[in-house]
Amino acid sequence: MVVTLAKQQYGRPAFARPGGTSDLAPMARIFVTRTPPGTAIATLRAHGHQVSVWPGELPPSREALAAALAEADAALTMVTDRIDEELLAGAPSLRIIANMAVGYDNVDPATAARAGVWLTNTPGVLAETTADMAFALLMAAARNVVASDRDSRAGGWKTWSPTAFLGQDVHGATLGIVGLGEIGQAVALRATGFKMRVVYTGRTRKPDAERVTGAEWLPLDALLRASDFVSVHTPLTPETHHLMDASRFATMKRGAIVINTARGQVVDQDALVAALSSGHLGGAALDVTDPEPLPLTHPLYGFPNVIITPHIASASMATRSKMAEMAAANILAVLASREPPNPVNRPAHSGEGRTIGT
Ligand code: GLV
Repeated sequence: MVVTLAKQQYGRPAFARPGGTSDLAPMARIFVTRTPPGTAIATLRAHGHQVSVWPGELPPSREALAAALAEADAALTMVTDRIDEELLAGAPSLRIIANMAVGYDNVDPATAARAGVWLTNTPGVLAETTADMAFALLMAAARNVVASDRDSRAGGWKTWSPTAFLGQDVHGATLGIVGLGEIGQAVALRATGFKMRVVYTGRTRKPDAERVTGAEWLPLDALLRASDFVSVHTPLTPETHHLMDASRFATMKRGAIVINTARGQVVDQDALVAALSSGHLGGAALDVTDPEPLPLTHPLYGFPNVIITPHIASASMATRSKMAEMAAANILAVLASREPPNPVNRPAHSGEGRTIGT
């Protein structure tokens, strides 16, 4: 059945904001699904909006999210908040989901558009910070930083050893970047500074990015054959789901290391476990897993040459604060009936009504 829901108008009068700006919008109800760092919440409140922040360390349950969205005009969400058609259908006033992330695989843009809801993300601000982390993981995996630290703490450091923790050189090695978007490019620039050869693959060649980064385009299989390190930087889409599967791992060089700061589902983890167990791969460094968090019983924790971090690639104080501020700016724009600065969809009937299949 297709139902048409009239967009609820705010039933409250506009009022002068403490800041005294002339850009008046009626007070709106904003739900924020976790406390972000920085000034975003204060900014939203300073505009006179009623902001409710989920207080838990864990994300709201589906039921709690549904209850909050049912009352909300805007939502500031995290990658952990899956918002589907059913939740959107139960959120008649909702006008914007401002995801505090560059990725938005937790909300389908077309479904949100059909529901008359803007979806926005935070491009631009997190590329350098995420690239720092991808490179930190590459270096740590190459040089056994985590495994040797763990060993030292456990009393394993008995003497200087000519053979302990022999790793792989980063300089002079080939880095394969899967997806030369803004994060992939930032990783490529770091790699050239480390005297690596950089190759990349993607749906289309990017001559401008090639000029800036020095990266050479290769088809995926040729890239996998050539690379000592493969770093994944694709969004999660139906095409990239399990892109790194058993045959792709088999194509990689023996002893090569895979780094993933994109989305866990881009890697077929069972295939990764098999490629590590057979000794074909030299290691893996994963900031993202499937599922998240990765259950402690998962076999990936059993490999000393695997590093697992809890989806923290964009987690610097400055960057996470900027991401929250961008999300807040998107919300403020939509609540003031302006187009948001970072849309990833365009609501079919924005501000008038919506159709949504139920
Ligand atoms: C984090 O994973 C993001 O997409 O920003």
